Amino acid sequence: MPVVGTSVVRKEGWAKVTGSARYVDDLSFPGVLHGRTVRTSIACGTLDAIRYDFDPEGYTVVTAGDIPGRNVISLIVDDQPCLVDRVIGHAAEPVVLLAHADREALSAAVVHLECTATPPVLEPAASRHAFKSVAIERGDLAQGWRDADIVVEGQYRAGHQEQLYIEPNGMIAVPEDRGVTIYGSLQCPYYVHQALCALLGLPPGRVRVVQAETGGGFGGKEEYPSIIAGHAALLALKSGRPVKLVYDRREDMLATTKRHPAVVRHRTGVTLDGRLVAMDIDVLLDGGAYTTLSPVVLSRGVIHATGPYRCPNVRIGGRVVRTNTPPNGAFRGFGAPQTLFAAEVHMDRIAEALGMDPAHVREINALRPGDTTATGQVLGNDCAALDVLREAVRRTRFSERRRELAGTTRGIGLSLFFHGAGFTGAGEVRLASRATLETTARGVRIRVANTEIGQGARTVLAQVVADAMDMDYSDVDVHEADTHHVPDSGPTVASRTCMIVGRLLERCAATMRERLGELSPADHYAKHGRMEVTEEYERPPGLHWDDDAYQGDAYGCFGYGCDVVEVELDPVTYEVRPVHLTAVVEIGKVLHPTLATGQIEGGSAQALGYALIEDVVMRDGRMANAELTNYLIPTTQDVPPMDVVMLERPYASGPQGAKGLGELPMDGPAPAVVNAIRHLGLDLREIPATPERVMEASCGSL
Ligand code: MOS
Repeated sequence: MPVVGTSVVRKEGWAKVTGSARYVDDLSFPGVLHGRTVRTSIACGTLDAIRYDFDPEGYTVVTAGDIPGRNVISLIVDDQPCLVDRVIGHAAEPVVLLAHADREALSAAVVHLECTATPPVLEPAASRHAFKSVAIERGDLAQGWRDADIVVEGQYRAGHQEQLYIEPNGMIAVPEDRGVTIYGSLQCPYYVHQALCALLGLPPGRVRVVQAETGGGFGGKEEYPSIIAGHAALLALKSGRPVKLVYDRREDMLATTKRHPAVVRHRTGVTLDGRLVAMDIDVLLDGGAYTTLSPVVLSRGVIHATGPYRCPNVRIGGRVVRTNTPPNGAFRGFGAPQTLFAAEVHMDRIAEALGMDPAHVREINALRPGDTTATGQVLGNDCAALDVLREAVRRTRFSERRRELAGTTRGIGLSLFFHGAGFTGAGEVRLASRATLETTARGVRIRVANTEIGQGARTVLAQVVADAMDMDYSDVDVHEADTHHVPDSGPTVASRTCMIVGRLLERCAATMRERLGELSPADHYAKHGRMEVTEEYERPPGLHWDDDAYQGDAYGCFGYGCDVVEVELDPVTYEVRPVHLTAVVEIGKVLHPTLATGQIEGGSAQALGYALIEDVVMRDGRMANAELTNYLIPTTQDVPPMDVVMLERPYASGPQGAKGLGELPMDGPAPAVVNAIRHLGLDLREIPATPERVMEASCGSL
């Protein structure tokens, strides 16, 4: 009986439900010290001196001078120091690390940082330093303008967003084996591993990274954990004792990465019958103080900037710039939610300019199988933009409902979107991920570096292997993500785990079955001992990417989605409440219906927060509302009823046809909400659509 397509019990479900799952703060080691980070409070300037105002007895103190390797958080560009040496780039930058056995003594220690402040750059438009610029060109834009009957222009803005995983960031470093072992809340064990080798000057074999049970990531535990692991490791190596460094919510919100704020400008040429003939798009992202993952966030952002539409003449320019705020980084969607927000609100403005129904103008332009994207990617038969659009319009009676609601305090809005699964461009080729499958006394065990972060990775990968091995799901184990015991199967990001690593494991299973002959894995194990099969990523046939020209197959495939949101406006408080959301998605193959639905509902809820209430207030380069009482996210009270519909257009290189799913639902709700507000007659072009912004828009339009 195939197990894929059924909602089997989660591998880690029992441990989580009974409370036996161990998160980093549940772990304890003999002689453990607690760690603390002393940070800058100015956004820009220099550190002149550090004054310690406490008796050092019992404390371990670490500064930049104690770093045995290179003072960097190694990632794409090694520009971010682990600890400030002299130059200060933002107002939550780590300078001094302290450790003590007693938490109260730790917080009582007084450290003064003597600094010279210089004027910070806080406006991205004023920044003179771009971390990366990208240009994409297709066709002949000049011809496009000549073919156009009308031109629609607009500027759209999106703010920061905090990932707000339930479990804050935290790490424990244990000095052992002439090196260090890290246990922590993280998405990417090998990112932490690489960063620690550079920081500590240790060979790979002496750094071990083990994922503890992790309470959510959303991209927020993609690159930042390398910093905390580095800090904990420095304290552990200096003190010779295990060190636990767990952030409280405030520190986590003040210091760690957020979604990049964006300003996106569109200028679009359209014919009177509704065809897009010219698109000129400019994307500006605020990168914060250091490079982190900004180049690849920008890359994904610009590639998704057209929305899922055909247009023969396109120019997209994008840049991500340095400002004196904490670095922005990975967050579910990774650049696409910002640019798709702009594209989809702009599409409604095009419909307004043409006097056309918003669904109809999308119907005319939606990508079809065989169509070519702005990077020159020819889409296969799995291209489902039109299918999700039609299904969403039909189920919600979108056009009739739009007319019914006219003149009321309710509005309805729609968005059509796509999301490329896996690393962008040649990324997967460069990663060269490896996955291992081994026989056990009972069946088989999966060895991969991909992490369970609440999304169900262990479960779904085990389902894929169970079917590929034609064996029981319960006889498939998943090894913990421990760099001493699992190969580097790449980071748990970019909606890639199920699609890329699942496919690798399917190939491992095929090889293993060949080698097993007539024997079951357990019988083979009893007779011959453990057998192990490792496979490495192979680029799907026909996939090409040119990184210089930014042309080719940006992704192995895209998932597609169409959201319809109905909102209610309170005409007194200007509060906008979502009252219903319909999400129609196409994800290749639904491996686990309950988990897939959970991803879509959870992602949509997170995106409703992005649309309406999640407002990061920056004051002098510091988050001014770094608390759950004033940075609000949707609770069960705020999330409306949702209809989730999943379509399947199998992707030939995914396990049983599956595409990536995790990020797709983050892309649609914000533009659908703003389009619903626009349906009420309010010219809003910015998120979050707080009551203040809605009121401001109403002064112009009501
Ligand atoms: Mo991510 S935003 O964890 O690719």
